[in-house]
Order: sequence, then C-alpha cells, then structure tokens
Amino acid sequence: MALIFLLPFTAISQVNHIIINADQELSTISRHIYGHFAEHLGTGIYGGVWVGEDSEIPNTEGFRTDVLEALKQLEVPNIRWPGGCFADEYYWRDGIGPREQRPARLNTHWGMVIEDNSFGTDEFLRFTEILGAEPVVAMNVGSGTPREMQQWIEYMNYAGDSEMSRLRKENGREEPWGVKYIGIGNESWGCGGNMRPEFYADLYRQFATYVRNYSGNQMFRIASGFDTDKYWWTDTVMERAANMMEGISLHYYTVAGESWQRKGSSVDFDEEHYFSGVKRSMRLDDFIIGHVEKMDLYDPQKRVILAVDEWGIWTDPLPGTNPGFLQQQNSLRDALIASISLDIMNKHSDRVKMANIAQMVNVLQAVIITDGDRMVKTPTYHVFDMYRAHFDTKLLHTEATINNYEYNDESIPAISYTASKSDNGRINITLTNKDAVQSQEVEIEVKGHDLGTVSTGKLLTSDKVNSINTFEDPDRVTLVDFDQYVLNGNRLAITLPAKSIVVITVE
Ligand code: AHR
Repeated sequence: MALIFLLPFTAISQVNHIIINADQELSTISRHIYGHFAEHLGTGIYGGVWVGEDSEIPNTEGFRTDVLEALKQLEVPNIRWPGGCFADEYYWRDGIGPREQRPARLNTHWGMVIEDNSFGTDEFLRFTEILGAEPVVAMNVGSGTPREMQQWIEYMNYAGDSEMSRLRKENGREEPWGVKYIGIGNESWGCGGNMRPEFYADLYRQFATYVRNYSGNQMFRIASGFDTDKYWWTDTVMERAANMMEGISLHYYTVAGESWQRKGSSVDFDEEHYFSGVKRSMRLDDFIIGHVEKMDLYDPQKRVILAVDEWGIWTDPLPGTNPGFLQQQNSLRDALIASISLDIMNKHSDRVKMANIAQMVNVLQAVIITDGDRMVKTPTYHVFDMYRAHFDTKLLHTEATINNYEYNDESIPAISYTASKSDNGRINITLTNKDAVQSQEVEIEVKGHDLGTVSTGKLLTSDKVNSINTFEDPDRVTLVDFDQYVLNGNRLAITLPAKSIVVITVE
C-alpha cells in the first residue's frame, strides 16, 4: 500500500487532513455517553435479558448468561429503565415481592401483551449491579403521583428503618441500592401525558420537590426534553425549572425513509436509502446545538447536562413480527450511524454527559439480538466495543480538511472522527468513512505531543452496507486487526476502507 505522508498537506487534494492539537484538551468525554436503554417492549426484557431462574436457557439468577457476558465486555456504564412510554404507565409496586403474586397487567403501549411483572425493581437493580452499570430509573409522571415516586425512591435508597425500606429488606435486599439517576417523566409532550411545556415545568417542580437524598445518596434529576428541533420546549422548561434539575433529555431517532409511515427496511436498502440514513443521522449535531443554545440562556455555567437518552435508527419492523415489538435487523449501515452519532456527542461533551442507545436488546437499534437460546452481537455492538477507548478521556481540539461523499446531487463530509487523550497520555482516534464506495486516505498530524507506538488498531467493515450478523453467520461484520497505517514521527497516514470504522490508539 502506497501511503504518502511526507508531502505538504495542500499538495494532494484527495487526501483528508486532520491536525490533532494534543496540548489543547477540551471537555471530558463521559463514559455515560455510552449508556443503554432497556424498555418493557417486545423481547427487550423478557426473553432478551430475563428468562427466569427455571429457564432452560443458561442464566445467572434469571438473567441470560450469554447476554450478561456480552454486555460485560462493553463495560456498560448505565442502563435506563423501565421506559420509554412504558414508564408513564408503570406502577412500581406491581414489580416487587414474590413473583407468583405479582399482578398481570396489559402493556398498552407495546403490543397489548400481558406484562407479568416478573422483572421489576429488584431484578433491574441486581442486573445493573452484576454489570457494574449505573441504573437510570424513569419515574411515572404521566399517570403516577409524587407520593408513588417518593416511596419508590425510599424503597430503593433508604438505609434506615421505614415501611418502604422494610419492604425492600423483606424482598431480600438489606442494603439500599443507591440509585442516583432518575428521569422525571418521559416524552411528557407525547406518550408521557401530552402536556404543554408550561404545565410540565410546574409538574416537574412538584415531583422534583419530593426526590429525597436518602442515606447520603445525592440524586441526579433528569427532566423530560423534546425530540428533534422543538427548542421552545427546552426554553420554557429550562426557564421555569432549571434550578431544580441536574439534566434535561433530548430524543432523536434517525428515519432513513420518506416518512414515519415508510421508514424503510432494516436489511433491504440501496445506496440512496443508505445515504439518506447516514445524512439524517448527522442532524443530531444541529439538534444538540439548538437545545444547548436554549440551555445556555438559563444555565451559562453548564451545570445542567443534556442527556440524549434515546437515540438510534428506527426502521420498519421486520416482516412477520408484531409491529408493537419494534424488531429490526442491524446492519453495517447502523454501525456507521452509531459511530457518527457518538462522534457528535463526543464533540458536545461539554454539555452532553449522558446518552442511551435505543435499545439494548432486540428492540430498534439493538446491540444484541436473541431468539430462544441463540444470541448474536450486532454490528452496532462492535462500535460500542471500539469506542470504549474514549471513556472518561479528554476531547482534543482538531482542525480538518475532509473530502465530500457525493450521491446524486447531495454531499456530506466523508469522514467523521473523534480524537481524545487518556490520563496516561494515550491518544485515541476513531474514524468513520461514510462513503459506501470509495476508500479514503487520511493524514493525521499530532501536535503538542510526542507519539510512541500504535498499541491498538481495529477495523469494522464488510462487503455491503447492509451486511448483517445472523445466528448462522455471527461474524460477518466483526472487528479485525487493522494495519493499513504508517506512523512516521508525529504523522499517521491511514487508508480507510469504504464504509468502515477504525479505532487507533497510540501510546
Ligand atoms: O424507544 C421506543 C419509544 O420511542 C420510547 O418508548 C419512547 O420514549 C419513544 O417515543
């Protein structure tokens, strides 16, 4: 491979150039940007995470052992639960105590199926404990009361002797769970109560009042934000309630097709559809900028975080599946949408300190798909594996000249990237080539830091943008060692294959 890195940058117009100013550290990239979302929806919990202790599927305390092992590898930092829309109809007391005595309810949002409540608060919190992940519990504001919320938090967190803590102890958990992160409502402008922002802001203040810091546990309250470009919601809620929150959320789902009614197949799509999906995923950048502008008006010190607590691609459901289960396949295209989205959030990591991919298992842009006793890691899973390189690192200042990826009469920058520095001085670079057809040459110059040797180089790609992993062929899209680079002093010349993602760590 002929890699030219000695000529001045301007001499070769088709080469992409990135200068990393390693002595200009920006914000910390919180590991919580790499969080997950697990809703009582389809087989996202039942079958996907929870099979029960008596299941023939190998399990650990009722949780699928294969799923636990796969998630441990990702060092999942946090998991948001129980919804989503489900959260605003969930009554927490249905999901505690002896399982055979728990009531059967209808899951009205997702397929009108019976929710037997066998996976409830203690199961969820034990699941996060095994994984070493922080729980993020979404409270019911739409149909619940402040009193129910207050008792739920007391049940989870109070160490002393009270009716609620006694209940928890009777259910087998002596020590408090120490839940810190809670969401106060979900999409309160829609499935969470169809509220106006003025009404929600007042209700938020009322609920937030009764969030107590039991037993020295400092709570972190996240208000329900809007999706896409509804900046007026953020404006009103921040104006009226910013002083009582630690975070506000943003949701953004990429829809590659022409409308929500025709989102397009998750497997069967051409380059036009691919281009449209990738381009639309980049709108997250505009939406974060728009919401942050409003947040800055009321919180210029950036005390309140923006939590992108639902994001990912949403396609048509797989043919033959229950449309209320939101089951879709996950292709290389989706992995690229994940890396592009994560780069955007890394870039805004001064304000975006938490995010949750929708969703963790079997639902929407899942990182894991199961069926009976079978499990497969999706292409998106591998992106989360690669991006662990950026956990709790410092975002570095960069300057770049990037080629365009053109399709029909539209164009987008061909490359997305993040450069970060670890505490021990390691430089971590992730690069995504969005171009479905052309490889890209990239010259990276690192200033203000002496580079040592490359310790990790990994590549994720496949022959087609719609390549998927199946139970029969689980490694069609998987990580392989990457060696298409030349390191010369402080310059790194890289050949990025078409439709690929690369992570490189330099000591
Ligand atoms: O993730 C599926 C649904 O999308 C969530 O329940 C809801 O919050 C959003 O509209």
